[in-house]
Amino acid sequence: MEKTFEEIVKNRRSIRSFTEEHIPDETINKIIELTAYAPSSWGGHPVEFIVIRDRETMQELARCKQMGAGPLAFGDAAIVPIVDTRKLELWVEDAAVASTYLLLAAESCGVGACWIHMKDRKGHTNSAPEDIRQLLHIPEYYEILNAVSLGMPKKRPESRTVQARIHHESY
Ligand SMILES: Cc1cc2nc3c(=O)[nH]c(=O)nc-3n(C[C@H](O)[C@H](O)[C@H](O)COP(=O)(O)O)c2cc1C
Repeated sequence: MEKTFEEIVKNRRSIRSFTEEHIPDETINKIIELTAYAPSSWGGHPVEFIVIRDRETMQELARCKQMGAGPLAFGDAAIVPIVDTRKLELWVEDAAVASTYLLLAAESCGVGACWIHMKDRKGHTNSAPEDIRQLLHIPEYYEILNAVSLGMPKKRPESRTVQARIHHESY
């Protein structure tokens, strides 16, 4: 049965440990296709995605960040959103919105995902984004905010009860 939007939003958690189960390419493609519906600055849709399924490359990608990128090595796929800055200057926002859609789309397909931050993080040789640029041969006019690890969840954390902080009419 299709999950409702409320179920998707409430059940999504960051998943950092994965089973060996293989995610079909079609599912990964569907997850990425859904991000195309995200809003983008000036409607420019400047975000593209590099999909990595080769284990060795995923391990090298994880090594591009000095600490905390482990899930990228152990998932079934890693995705690097890249933003074409020749089109627009609000690249951080565009990457963040597209990545959020990616996480929710993954949840809707039953796939676990985790945002691994890269911008302003140290790499092993240069910054994490620069190390990724070299590893994946990304032209210099693309920017990199993060990467996302994908895999079938080993265990699912409980969904949480959280409360929106709302101010009505004024602060
Ligand atoms: C901007 C941003 C940066 C994040 N960076 C990382 C990261 O580098 N490594 C990681 O394991 N999780 C990272 N996360 C995931 C958060 O740790 C996670 O969303 C948060 O702890 C809340 O847990 P939940 O996603 O399960 O609700 C990041 C999330 C966001 C939105």
